[in-house]
Amino acid sequence: MSEVSLLKQLARSLMTGQLIAASDPHRQQWHLAPAVGLLNDPNGFIQANGRYHLFYQWNPLACRHGAKWWGHWSSADLVHWQHEPVALLPTEDYEISGCYSGSAVQNNGKITLIYTGNVKYTDGSRTANQCLAEEMPDGTFRKLGPVIPLPEGYTGHVRDPKVWKHDGFWYMVLAAQSPDIKGKILFYRSEDLQQWHLLGEIAGTYLNGLKEFGYMWECPDLFPLDGQDVLLCCPQGLAAEKYRYLNLYQCGYFVGQLDYQQAKFPHGEFYELDLGFEFYAPQTTETADGRRLMFGWLGMPDENELAQPTIKYGWVDCMSSPRELSLRNGKLYQQPVKELQLLRQSDGFRWQGSAQDAPELAAVSAEIMVEVSQPFTLTLRDEASMSWDGECLILTRRNWRTGEQESRYWFGSLTSLQLLLDSSSLEVFINGGEACMTARYFPSPEKRTLQFHGTGTVSIHHWLLSACMIE
Ligand code: FRU
Repeated sequence: MSEVSLLKQLARSLMTGQLIAASDPHRQQWHLAPAVGLLNDPNGFIQANGRYHLFYQWNPLACRHGAKWWGHWSSADLVHWQHEPVALLPTEDYEISGCYSGSAVQNNGKITLIYTGNVKYTDGSRTANQCLAEEMPDGTFRKLGPVIPLPEGYTGHVRDPKVWKHDGFWYMVLAAQSPDIKGKILFYRSEDLQQWHLLGEIAGTYLNGLKEFGYMWECPDLFPLDGQDVLLCCPQGLAAEKYRYLNLYQCGYFVGQLDYQQAKFPHGEFYELDLGFEFYAPQTTETADGRRLMFGWLGMPDENELAQPTIKYGWVDCMSSPRELSLRNGKLYQQPVKELQLLRQSDGFRWQGSAQDAPELAAVSAEIMVEVSQPFTLTLRDEASMSWDGECLILTRRNWRTGEQESRYWFGSLTSLQLLLDSSSLEVFINGGEACMTARYFPSPEKRTLQFHGTGTVSIHHWLLSACMIE
């Protein structure tokens, strides 16, 4: 479809939909969400000339997956965001089924996007082109076309390029599927972003000591952190275990050492990035002050997603809060970025005592730090709960599609919890970021508080968070 027809449809979609979406009681107060339609992966996350840019997979015309666009927000502080001109629309033959996920770099002073042009055929097959687009002075993006056609020896499932610079060369990790239907990560090098050389497969099923490990690995990201290298990826097709891999698709990381010369990435075990329900397709960037920050998609396709009640209001899914990463004893720690403290409305409210005597606290748009040493339970708006029995922390929620209770687990010695709560999401940071548990949930709008239960002592610090809409 031509750019003009798509933009006319976008205008109608926004004119009819925006007020309705904004009136949803489950509309997020301070998490980034689509004005209308469906949002998925964070794309092109970068800080350029002092401003953060976050692009996102977007279907502005319907609450379903399809031929994706790239939306674009920018911010000076990761808290106050503004809309930028839509960055990419699927108009060309080489991307006709969607401008799929990718990343951004700064090249010659311009933000340059590297993304997947997805092409689906009527017989169900598909192909993929890795494409470039560069920033124009008016904030729009000019497409430069494909730079990597479908590599030989892979199926049409090749996507999600993440590019970075190292020692004067550009490098890329790219998700791919081998003909025997196994997930692989390809590694490329380029001098100019135009000509790319495939150096080899650096990770995937049957590599680096892994056995069967999924039929596709989506959204790779590879970066140095505290002296090692971390590969984030989203393997699809891992069998659920009693306490692990309980979501339909997985999202996790390997810690290793990238050998640029030999194109090898020997690595350790796979760990899940988030032990909750919805956290997928994350992407990181390095900031000017040397922090490694990450956004993830608070969504999970193909299961409960399209039964979310927000669809009545014409929008679905949102981003995670921005998280700062660090590596300690080989484990990835995640903490909310310090800028999020700008949302706290005051110095907060402190309380200490037996859990069951704690006051009910506002839980719609709030942050709470809890120090604990004894078992306790926390119920959230009668729709979710967290329970600590001395060994296992259990997050339980009502599944909005089936109505059933479902749980996720973390084992360890609990000392503190930090909860970030919004109208329809909860993000839990365990022991200063040693583990995270994230979920969307859709409590009745009149249920607005959280309650503690149990006889153990808890120490609480609670803040109300300001609504922070996109300007
Ligand atoms: C992950 C993903 C990517 C793809 C994009 C399409 O959620 O499937 O692999 O590029 O979404 O929207």
